[in-house]
Amino acid sequence: MILDHEIPFSLMKIRQQIQNLDTNSAIFSEFALKHVSDFLDIMQVYRGAMQEAGTKLEILDEEYSMRLSHNPIHHMERRLKSVGSIMEKMERRGFELTLESLKKNVYDIAGIRVVCNYVDDVYAVSKALCDQDDIEVALIKDYIANPKETGYRSLHVICMVPVYLSSGCVKAPVEVQFRTIAMDYWASLEHKLRYKSILPTEERTKHSKTLQDCAKTLAKLEDEMQEVQRDLISTQKKLALGSDSGLNESRQTNS
Ligand code: GTP
Ligand code: MG
Repeated sequence: MILDHEIPFSLMKIRQQIQNLDTNSAIFSEFALKHVSDFLDIMQVYRGAMQEAGTKLEILDEEYSMRLSHNPIHHMERRLKSVGSIMEKMERRGFELTLESLKKNVYDIAGIRVVCNYVDDVYAVSKALCDQDDIEVALIKDYIANPKETGYRSLHVICMVPVYLSSGCVKAPVEVQFRTIAMDYWASLEHKLRYKSILPTEERTKHSKTLQDCAKTLAKLEDEMQEVQRDLISTQKKLALGSDSGLNESRQTNS
């Protein structure tokens, strides 16, 4: 299942977003307004790349489900970054204000969040995607092997995905965030606390500390549950092999 967050996709909507830009610097809104139709072209390519990657992931999930009677992907979410957030990131990071610099430096315009059932699923599905011939891996950040200070865990892969336009093929980056249900559940609460909380600083600091501990507890719990799941899958594989050889034996007896 893929959930799409609202994708702003008309000149009018993009113009509206630019007019509502919350930036201290007028040059960013001027730049965005001057290039509004270039933005639409860029967004169209990134949306295509996001759709291609989404389809690849759906196909992998279906294949695993047929072979192992297990869906590694619980659900996916897709979003295109708004022009406002793109401008905000360029300003915050001090990137040069050109379209070339935007394409070169902002890797997370197209984003897919792949929420998996288990950690093994995260690594299996991400590897299967990255190994595809037409996918080029630009960057991997493994915050599962190396969690962030906050306790944040996820596997981030920036991959270059080909999009076929009438003028030919172009590659665009898609940020794919792979995580488990538990990591997702943790990250959404931490995100709320960090960006949307009206709590006083002291309370926030206390809760952040609690969440750091929760992240460790969840990781331990996931390890234990993963072991149970591994046992189930390997027994299922053995049974499937057994019934295959049973089938072969009966074929031989019948012939
Ligand atoms: P951004 O400028 O935020 O895109 O960061 P970045 O380009 O340095 O990349 P990074 O891999 O650190 O983070 C990318 C995204 O991962 C963020 O936009 C969040 O969605 C998520 N993320 C990273 N760190 C945290 C964290 O500590 N807590 C939560 N809740 N999410 C995080
Ligand atoms: Mg980001």
